[in-house]
Amino acid sequence: QEQEHKSLFTRMEASSRFFEQQLREHEQRHRAVDYLKGRGLSGKAAKFFGIGYAPPGWDNLQESLGSDKQIIRELVTSGMLIEKEDGRTYDRFRDRIMFPIRDARGRYIAFGGRVLGDEKPKYLNSPETPIFQKNRELYGLYEARKIRQKLTRFVIVEGYMDVVALAEFGIHYAVATLGTATSEHHLRRLFKIVPEVIFCFDGDDAGRTAAARAMETALPVLSDGVQARFLFLPDGEDPDTLVRKEGRDGFEKRLNESLHLPEFLFEQLKQQVDFDTLDGKARLDKMAAPLIGKLPKGTLRSLMEKRLDDMIGTRSSAMAAVNEDTPPEPPELD
Ligand code: GTP
Ligand code: MN
Ligand code: MN
Ligand code: MN
Ligand code: MN
Repeated sequence: QEQEHKSLFTRMEASSRFFEQQLREHEQRHRAVDYLKGRGLSGKAAKFFGIGYAPPGWDNLQESLGSDKQIIRELVTSGMLIEKEDGRTYDRFRDRIMFPIRDARGRYIAFGGRVLGDEKPKYLNSPETPIFQKNRELYGLYEARKIRQKLTRFVIVEGYMDVVALAEFGIHYAVATLGTATSEHHLRRLFKIVPEVIFCFDGDDAGRTAAARAMETALPVLSDGVQARFLFLPDGEDPDTLVRKEGRDGFEKRLNESLHLPEFLFEQLKQQVDFDTLDGKARLDKMAAPLIGKLPKGTLRSLMEKRLDDMIGTRSSAMAAVNEDTPPEPPELD
C-alpha cells in the first residue's frame, strides 16, 4: 500500500509538471494565460501555486505520461484518467486552468480545474482516491506554511481563486476547503498550528449558510485558548473580488474587526426569536442550550452559559438539562 501511494504521488506530480509545461508551451496557451491575466494573476503567483493548463483534447495527459499499462492503471486510480465500459481511457481534465492540491508535506494529491469561460461545471475536482480525501485536505495549507514559518491565524475561504488572490496581495494565510463544508478535522488541524481561524465565505446566500454550518462545526473544537471568527463580505463579493478593490490593508482591517464566534452565535439566535417576550426568551434558551452544550467544558463555555442566563433574565433550565446530560423534556407521545 505504501508503495502504491508512492507511485500515485509520482503520477500526480508528473501530471502537474505536464500542466505547468502546457501553460508555457501549448499552442493554445494564450487563451489560458489571457484568462489568468484577465483575473489579475501575476506569473509569480501562478508559479508559486503551480498553476497549469490542461489543453483541449481527450488524450493529452495520457499520451504524455501513459507509456505503459501500469502507469495508465495508476493514472486511472489517481483520477486523472477516466475508464470507459470498454476499458478505454481518456483525460478527466480538458481545456481547464489547473490548480494542484498538495498535502501538508507538499506531495501532489489532487487537482481542481476551472473552465476558461462560463461553461458548467465551473470547477471540476479530482475524485476521492487512495491519496485524496477531500474532507481532510485544505487548499493553500502547504503553500501558507512554506512561505511563512510564523503563522498566527488562518482565513478559511471558499475557492482556489480566493486563496491565490489573497496571496497575491500579501495575505499568505488563506486556505480553502475543496468544494466541501469545513470539517471538524479541518479545524483541529488548523488549531494545531495557530490559535485563530477566521471564516470568510462569499457574500451570498450560500456563503451565509456555510457560515452558520461552520459555527456548529467549530463549537466542539473551541477549547479555551483558540478563537473562531467570522468575516461577512458585502453582497456579491468574495475574497478575490474584495481584496482587489480594497487591497491588503482594507481586507486585513475587515479581518481584524471580524465577529467572534460567541457574538455570532447569539446574534444569529436573536434574529430568530422575538426577544422582547417571555416566551421568546424561553425559545431562545431552548435553541441556545444545545449549541452551547457542544462546547468543551471550560471558561468560554461557562461565560456563554452566564451570558445566556443574563439574556433570558433567569437561570437557563435548558442548559441545566444539557449539563445533567438528561433530555430537557420527556419524549412526545402520539
Ligand atoms: P471563480 O468564478 O473562479 O472566482 O470561482 P469561485 O471560487 O468564486 O466560485 P464559487 O464561489 O462559485 O465557488 C466556490 C468554490 O466552490 C470553488 O472554488 C470550487 O471549489 C467550488 N465549486 C464552484 N463551482 C463548482 C462546480 O461547478 N463543481 C464543483 N465540484 N465545485 C465547484
Ligand atoms: Mn459563491
Ligand atoms: Mn470568485
Ligand atoms: Mn466565490
Ligand atoms: Mn498580519
